[in-house]
Amino acid sequence: MKENLEQKRFQKNPIRGTKFTIAVSSAKGGVGKSTFATNLAIALKKVGCRVGLLDADIYGPSLPKLFSINSKPESDGQNLKPILKYDIQCMSIGFLTDEQTPMIWRGPMVTSAIKTFTQKVAWKDLDFIIVDMPPGTGDTQLTFSQEINMDGVIIISTPQEIALQDVKRGIKMFDKLKVRIIGLVDNMSHFIGDDNKKYAIFGEGGVEKTAKEFNKDFLVEIPINPDVGKQGDMGIPIVESKPGHEISKIFISLANKIKSIYI
Ligand SMILES: Nc1ncnc2c1ncn2[C@@H]1O[C@H](COP(=O)(O)OP(=O)(O)OP(=O)(O)O)[C@@H](O)[C@H]1O
Ligand SMILES: [Mg+2]
Repeated sequence: MKENLEQKRFQKNPIRGTKFTIAVSSAKGGVGKSTFATNLAIALKKVGCRVGLLDADIYGPSLPKLFSINSKPESDGQNLKPILKYDIQCMSIGFLTDEQTPMIWRGPMVTSAIKTFTQKVAWKDLDFIIVDMPPGTGDTQLTFSQEINMDGVIIISTPQEIALQDVKRGIKMFDKLKVRIIGLVDNMSHFIGDDNKKYAIFGEGGVEKTAKEFNKDFLVEIPINPDVGKQGDMGIPIVESKPGHEISKIFISLANKIKSIYI
């Protein structure tokens, strides 16, 4: 399998400076893609990989807030230098614009911003770039899948039917574009109360069932935990600030799994 992955890498433009590019996607908004992408990036770092994080959400960048980054990237006239935070090389359109400025861009401008971020950023010596995708099945997903080498995509969903409907569209899109789906993640799958009981607030088992239906791997379920949101709001993701937390352990175990698939 590793040989096949290596072969595939040479068919499209790889992002320079990284061995593998993995996207975090879901056609549905608000299911926790950015939260997952930031925590997975840190978990991969903790298991010994060199990691970059590319916020590909041009209209609604999250990385400045989730990593508490307020500085602007430097340019050497040719390339933008990623901003190093928590030992992760980071890039986001949000580093270049005012937080409150809405991006009123047409599709071709989004495509060109993505090309800049993949071809004109001085990513250096990375094992993985984790790409945080915007919601939907639009220009960003197409640009990445068709023009840039993507080594895999992880699909995030919450268990509600309404989320799964969109997720199924997302799976079909990546299948059509021949991007390897590493597997599905059930985020905010359930809540563990103070009474230690499991509450399936949004329903149970739907993501795993969808994975089976489409013959994809089911990777993991991540419970709803207020600490996850709190740490994101503080700009220090939970895996960085509380590596021993039960949620962090889930991410670190997943990072080990992903590392073993590719490296
Ligand atoms: N496992 C979790 N437990 C508790 N809160 C979570 C969890 N995962 C995500 N959240 C919260 O859900 C909200 C949405 O998360 P996030 O912004 O990561 O979603 P998204 O899919 O990237 O959204 P968008 O589609 O707008 O990019 C955030 O407030 C985040 O803190
Ligand atoms: Mg997001």
